[in-house]
Amino acid sequence: MTEADFTFLREYLKKRSGLALGPEKRYLVESRLSPVCRRFNLATLSDLVGALRLSREGPMEQAVVEAMTTNETFFFRDRAPFDLFRDVLLPRAIAARASTRRLRIWSAAASTGQEPYSLAMLIHEAAAQLVGWQVEIVGTDLSTEVLEKARLGLYSHFEVQRGLPVQLLVKHFTQVGEQWRISPQLTNMVSYRPLNLLHPFDHLGQFDIVYCRNVLIYFDAPTKADVLERIAKALTPDGAVLLGAAETVIGLTEALVPDGQHRGLYRQGATHRAAAPQRLAAGF
Ligand SMILES: C[S@@+](CC[C@H](N)C(=O)[O-])C[C@H]1O[C@@H](n2cnc3c(N)ncnc32)[C@H](O)[C@@H]1O
Repeated sequence: MTEADFTFLREYLKKRSGLALGPEKRYLVESRLSPVCRRFNLATLSDLVGALRLSREGPMEQAVVEAMTTNETFFFRDRAPFDLFRDVLLPRAIAARASTRRLRIWSAAASTGQEPYSLAMLIHEAAAQLVGWQVEIVGTDLSTEVLEKARLGLYSHFEVQRGLPVQLLVKHFTQVGEQWRISPQLTNMVSYRPLNLLHPFDHLGQFDIVYCRNVLIYFDAPTKADVLERIAKALTPDGAVLLGAAETVIGLTEALVPDGQHRGLYRQGATHRAAAPQRLAAGF
């Protein structure tokens, strides 16, 4: 791959998915895109770059972007954000939404579904308090391939051994050959939609709780700020946003501010709150 090809691919990926690749990531690009070359019968990466220069959107362009995404995830990843959901966010939401009995949760980089299904399992545990409620979990991701797996809800032995307490495995999964299928009760709680966070997402409506974890790390600062500001707008005035352990709003935007009490938890900043039509007393 020539220097010019690598520069083209870096700019191409940045524009398409927000992925900000340093000059040292040449090897990563080569190893991830070589299978794409083979799939589309292209002999070299330079041929792939030539084809991308000529083409518009299609399966090859999608394959290039998807091949460069990192889809690493597991059930109850980092534990604390899910303890926070069970112990703080969900009880507060149940109190704050007692009159509407409606709760909307967004997993904004859902990958293969472990994050939204972990939330679904916790909601299931609180089912007695949620009788008659409409609880919606929306899982979105840029990659259609991971969403397909998320919808299927089929996981390997290795995947169910990562982070999932054994009693939840027994309760919600059935073994199918070498794999484990999550119960329809849980798959029915989550709706999956393809979404590139670089594109508008107003059509998804407003959310009470947003989990946007381990995706902003791949973006540069202006892209992070833009996505965070649009997430703040998609949030109900008393809503909550959870970011990944290596992610923050600090130095990027004031549209969201740290909760102060709980690590990784953010709320709308003062400017956004002032603009909101009404504000509920307690945040989630
Ligand atoms: C490392 S996974 C994080 C999964 C999960 N949130 C977690 O923390 O375990 C990052 C996901 O972000 C998705 N992604 C990358 N760029 C994106 C973009 N521009 N819009 C939406 N999703 C994106 C990838 O496809 C991948 O599935």
